[in-house]
Amino acid sequence: MKVLVVFDHPRRHSFSGAVLDAFLEGLTEAGHEAEVADLYAEGFDPRMPLADEPDWDDDDKVYSGAVLAEQARIARHDAIAFVFPVWWWSVPAMTKGWIDRVWNNGWAYGARKLPHQKALMIGIAANSAEGYRERGDLAAMRSQLLVGVLNYCGIMNADLRLFYDALETDEIRAGLIEEARRLGRDF
Ligand SMILES: Cc1cc2nc3c(=O)[nH]c(=O)nc-3n(C[C@H](O)[C@H](O)[C@H](O)COP(=O)(O)O)c2cc1C
Repeated sequence: MKVLVVFDHPRRHSFSGAVLDAFLEGLTEAGHEAEVADLYAEGFDPRMPLADEPDWDDDDKVYSGAVLAEQARIARHDAIAFVFPVWWWSVPAMTKGWIDRVWNNGWAYGARKLPHQKALMIGIAANSAEGYRERGDLAAMRSQLLVGVLNYCGIMNADLRLFYDALETDEIRAGLIEEARRLGRDF
């Protein structure tokens, strides 16, 4: 499959970047063709300009050039993946703004939906799995991101995998890197 991997971190050489590398290696091992959308490196502007604000009365609104280019890139792929650090129990504002602007009315929801076969979100988190479960954070994120965004836009085969305890030991981090490679291989 052709997989667009959306990466959101101000530092490409962060731990999140290492997770991205391992995931890409796994995808390649499995024979997939991956393209990375590195939102910071590409200078994506997550703010919503008037040109990209949805017009509920116009399913065919022509959005800005930046958004049309992103939509064309997404359309060239069969599947989409996200790699991001969990910030305040969600995707960071960069990914949020990318979705707000690009997954727009008449293209990703409303009159038309996305045709992609599957989506995977990999969130790198400092907190523990127990913490996420006990406080309901995992359920909240699944509801918000999987049901609220991916399913809503037509991608029913969607999953969220959280990489817990990412600021802990080297051993834990090595295990998470291996898990990223496996998720790429099994994609
Ligand atoms: C602004 C901000 C908000 C964060 N919010 C959360 C959070 O809600 N839950 C969590 O588990 N970790 C949270 N963290 C910790 C990050 O998930 C963690 O620093 C990151 O995944 C480590 O990866 P990195 O070294 O690639 O940045 C937050 C970090 C920052 C900077």
